[in-house]
Amino acid sequence: MGTNAIPPPGTRRPLGGLRRTLVAGALGTLVLGTFAAVTVPGSAGATSAGSASAAATTLGAAAQQSGRYFGTAISAGRLGDSQYTTIANREFDMITAENEMKIDATEPNQNQFSFGNADRIYNWAVQNGKRVRGHTLAWHAQQPRWMENMSGSALRQAMINHINGVMNYYKGKIYAWDVVNEAFSDSGGGRRDSNLQRTGNDWIEVAFRTARAADPAAKLCYNDYNIDNWTWAKTQGVYNMVRDFKQRGVPIDCVGLQSHFNSGSPYNSNYRTTIQSFAALGVDVQITELDIQGASPQTYAAVVNDCLAVPRCNGITVWGVRDQDSWRSGDTPLLFSGGNKKPAYNAVLDALNAATPNPTPSPTPTVTPTPTPTPTPTPTPTPTPGTGACTATVETTNSWPGGFQTTVTVRAGSSPVNGWTVQWAWPGGQSISSLWNGQHTVSGSNVTVRNAPYNGSIAAGQSTTFGFTGNGTAATPTATCTSP
Ligand code: XIL
Repeated sequence: MGTNAIPPPGTRRPLGGLRRTLVAGALGTLVLGTFAAVTVPGSAGATSAGSASAAATTLGAAAQQSGRYFGTAISAGRLGDSQYTTIANREFDMITAENEMKIDATEPNQNQFSFGNADRIYNWAVQNGKRVRGHTLAWHAQQPRWMENMSGSALRQAMINHINGVMNYYKGKIYAWDVVNEAFSDSGGGRRDSNLQRTGNDWIEVAFRTARAADPAAKLCYNDYNIDNWTWAKTQGVYNMVRDFKQRGVPIDCVGLQSHFNSGSPYNSNYRTTIQSFAALGVDVQITELDIQGASPQTYAAVVNDCLAVPRCNGITVWGVRDQDSWRSGDTPLLFSGGNKKPAYNAVLDALNAATPNPTPSPTPTVTPTPTPTPTPTPTPTPTPGTGACTATVETTNSWPGGFQTTVTVRAGSSPVNGWTVQWAWPGGQSISSLWNGQHTVSGSNVTVRNAPYNGSIAAGQSTTFGFTGNGTAATPTATCTSP
């Protein structure tokens, strides 16, 4: 269905070498270490500001009011453009590498991994207090030549090896990975033919199982285009796969709707049904590569409102900063023109600001596929006032001169936890620049982090995590966890 006038994204193999040359050329201008002035647009600030008394003035801060993120794709070759980085740093709180974490970039020769440009983007993001989506590990396009020429079990093994190599390198550092990209055919609802598909229909679930083992902390997404319209066969095909995965316990946490909207694949008001339907399967939904031909403010607002209507739609990423940065720049599909905010920008910001401040987003990925109906309505006192002891484990996941990133795992003991508080003292003047999945207050060197509205309940023996970027010398303090 859906005669897309524009060739399907994955079928192009644009500018491989040229792009690399351009990117490499720009590296000279990239100065690592200019992160002393870490301005975190509205992130920590928004948390402590608390109520939505005043409208947020950036997309990231506006999205955070409802526990969501607003991201952009970043190209390493543009990190030397100060207009670009100024806008990107100010407005967005989630970053996707536009090309730099793809297979051809990260494993240009078999078994020789290469993270130079990926790290440039990763470091820029984290040093500016942002999280990172990983894109992408298994895909028929933008494969390195050596992989394009492979087949059968050798290719299957190479795919597994690639997932392990990249995910292990970024272990604990990536919010969500697009594990598999664009595996479905444009029509008919079945799989796309590709060298990976020809290794056997189970290649997708093998990719997801490999990914879960490689980095249990990352959300694992299936990402595709033209799965936005609920009536299209391709959407149904992906929906059926995700349902099957959830039923059989194949690890999958999220579906990425690329949402490249254009005349051949326009926004349709059933988009909200699509988001709701995927979410009802028990996965998060993320809008991962949004751009809209012509950038109609009404359509941008509709997309945002559709996401806001579904608690498990937990973030939106636009596929580039300014129109000139777009892979479809002729469509002027983005939110900025040069340094200027377009009408679509204001429509998005207003829609985000109109969201209810505290919805209840994503219940943490459930592991139990069995919704065991409890026939006896035992009148147990609902509040389960926590006998729930909990523990907090602090882990430094990245550091650089003057800053660091930390992940804290909050684990329930033998009883469930309903609400948690983690506390520690900084040993040497450190401070938090941006914190996610929690709400923090600071008193002198003492830090208190309480659960976010959506991650306070932890089943017995289960865990949740929050994270932050900090200023100062990396420290791993001992933290206590209490539950009311
Ligand atoms: C695109 C990039 O934007 C271009 O720079 C590159 O030349 C080709 O790939 N679906 C995806 C993205 O998952 O990786 C694609 O990105 C756009 C379509």
